[in-house]
Amino acid sequence: MKRRKTQLIKPRIREILSKTLPPELVNLLPKHWVQLGDVLILPLREELLPYKYEIAKVYAEVLGVKTVLRKGKIGGEFRETNYEIIYGNDPVTIHKENGILYKFDASKIMFSPANVKERVRMASIAKPDELVVDMFAGIGHLSLPIAKHCGARVIAIEKSPYTFKFLVENIELNKVQDRMTAYNIDNREFKGENIADRILMGYVVKTHEFIPKALEIAKDEAVIHYHNTVPERLMPREPFETFQKIAREHGYESELLESRIIKRYAPGVWHVVLDIRVFKK
Ligand SMILES: C[S@@+](CC[C@H](N)C(=O)[O-])C[C@H]1O[C@@H](n2cnc3c(N)ncnc32)[C@H](O)[C@@H]1O
Repeated sequence: MKRRKTQLIKPRIREILSKTLPPELVNLLPKHWVQLGDVLILPLREELLPYKYEIAKVYAEVLGVKTVLRKGKIGGEFRETNYEIIYGNDPVTIHKENGILYKFDASKIMFSPANVKERVRMASIAKPDELVVDMFAGIGHLSLPIAKHCGARVIAIEKSPYTFKFLVENIELNKVQDRMTAYNIDNREFKGENIADRILMGYVVKTHEFIPKALEIAKDEAVIHYHNTVPERLMPREPFETFQKIAREHGYESELLESRIIKRYAPGVWHVVLDIRVFKK
């Protein structure tokens, strides 16, 4: 039933907008979008920008969302989205996925649909007696599933004060205050040493710079979920070789348990995650 409804949406949107838009622009209307709670993220081509408000209004009405954002580039230390609000005025949404409520400002904070498999994988990755440290927590993207579904203890570190506000709210919304604690600091300032059974490094481009800190937080034996971006021509050697080299320099051996592709990051560059067991030499 739902599938049939979805199939009817695109023709309905085209039909309404063909009354306002020049015919050559109707074919450029977005055929794919991302809906997070009651906010829609729409990729809009330059040619459509003079009509962006009219277009966003129709998508909002047909899809039943309160706000529409124009998809743009993600960047900077905090991986901010900076998506333009083109319809409505409230970009804060509550998105439900795999039994978890994620509240966040979709115009500023990334929530990638392509990372869904990894978020779901985390929901059964840890044992209840583990201590997990999430070094790049965001709004709890990867660590809320661990706290909620695995019942493990989680320390979540997030540097951006704005994102941190939502992380704290999400811990309460998901009722995991008894086992999840959040810190609004740069993870390099975190004081815990030799405490973690498992470490999440959900960051890209510069993740290798944080390996020494991860090893400091890790117990003598631990598992690290190491994300990074890697040019295709260096795969599959990288990024494990670099990890192993840095770990050795810090007195740890490493064993690659598994590697997975998360998504295409740029032409010829992949976002990957490696599960690595580290142990003190
Ligand atoms: C790309 S988001 C990813 C969130 C989540 N780990 C995931 O994989 O879906 C990375 C987060 O790390 C935060 N961050 C960046 N550098 C940090 C640092 N040095 N210490 C703590 N958090 C940091 C950013 O603000 C951002 O919220």
